[in-house]
Amino acid sequence: MTFACHVGDVPLGEGRVLALDGRRIALFRTPGGWYALDATCPHLGGPLADGIVCDHAVTCPLHERRFELATGAALTTGPGVAAHDVEVRGDRVLVALGAAVRQAA
Ligand code: FES
Repeated sequence: MTFACHVGDVPLGEGRVLALDGRRIALFRTPGGWYALDATCPHLGGPLADGIVCDHAVTCPLHERRFELATGAALTTGPGVAAHDVEVRGDRVLVALGAAVRQAA
């Protein structure tokens, strides 16, 4: 796992974008735990870290496609995004990057 940030770096209920191993990751801190997704919406590149987090999902701020935080699965239409494992050890938030989601040509 790779160090991502400290717990206090992400306010509860919000997301932050990070660069980890050359990938842009959206890290979310929710009342139910921490989640990490690829940061770029597969629709037209919207910033998922700036999306609205509600009901275990994030809504893209550009055109409101929704993605499940735990899996990255699309809850509306189109492809999902890659989800990554997150672990909190004390004050440190660690992320294990998963495989990128392949987009249809
Ligand atoms: S860019 Fe995310 S829904 Fe369009």
